[in-house]
Amino acid sequence: MDQKNIIEDNGQREIEFDAKIASGKTIEPKDWMPERYRKQLLRMMSQHAHSEVIGMLPEGNWITRAPSLARKAILIAKVQDEAGHGLYIYSGAETLGMNRSEMNELLMSGKAKYSSIFNYPTLSWADMGAIGWLVDGAAIVNQTVLAKCSYGPYARAMIRICKEENFHNKQGYQIMAYLMRGTDEQKAMAQDAMNRFWWPTLMMFGPSDKNSPNSGDLLKWKVKLNTNDDLRQRFVDRTIPQAETIGLTIPDKDLTWNSETRHYDFGEIDWAEFNEVISGNGPCNKMRLKQRNDAHKNGQWVRDAATAYSSKRAKVA
Ligand SMILES: [Fe+2]
Ligand SMILES: [Fe+2]
Repeated sequence: MDQKNIIEDNGQREIEFDAKIASGKTIEPKDWMPERYRKQLLRMMSQHAHSEVIGMLPEGNWITRAPSLARKAILIAKVQDEAGHGLYIYSGAETLGMNRSEMNELLMSGKAKYSSIFNYPTLSWADMGAIGWLVDGAAIVNQTVLAKCSYGPYARAMIRICKEENFHNKQGYQIMAYLMRGTDEQKAMAQDAMNRFWWPTLMMFGPSDKNSPNSGDLLKWKVKLNTNDDLRQRFVDRTIPQAETIGLTIPDKDLTWNSETRHYDFGEIDWAEFNEVISGNGPCNKMRLKQRNDAHKNGQWVRDAATAYSSKRAKVA
């Protein structure tokens, strides 16, 4: 086929592709898709998978120091779920033509991004509450929408993940509620975690709409169904009453209920801080990358054992 026919053919395919998305059908791995759609999805899904995996590090920090056996068991289960989320999403992302070890290479070399929130330190037990409640809460807002996105493997992975995120969110809120019924020191610890995690959680929804370079295409293709600012607002609206119920203060002097819009108005995010963190200069970026690289190196024997075991089984068969 000559160049002109290829262009015409792709043009026709793109019209059919757009029509399929408009009709609410999902795009599946073997379907034709525009190269930009594939690339954007691969970027989003791999970043998402990396975030699940890197997200285990700040919480893993507290497994050995959880205040009771029950709390330890819950935290281990939660961290293990995050590994599973990484696995589903990497598997989904592989259907777009890049294998997992390549994606992992990009993560370990610092070329691929992951959620900015995991570049903040976890300084107290209350941070486990703040992460479960706020960070997983923000993830639910994002992922509930992604469960209806146009790429089938991504949407289906999100359905199961959202169910587990709800458990994460509740265990985090329960930690916070418990501390807020405790001693003055426990209340102060919970409030301090809230103060440190509130703004970085709002940053998780990404740049504001006026500054979000990829949103246009993603909305058109129904990879995203809402803008960053819409989702951020949704998170704020659902979280403020939860904070008030247990007596936590939101660290935002501009926060007010707007009876006209029926939403909370909130202060301006420190975008300079956000940009610093996503460009690698947050409080823990270097530490997280090193931890991830070390974990990969230390896990070499597991990969070797798994490979040896599968080749032995192949011989038997
Ligand atoms: Fe997760
Ligand atoms: Fe989670």
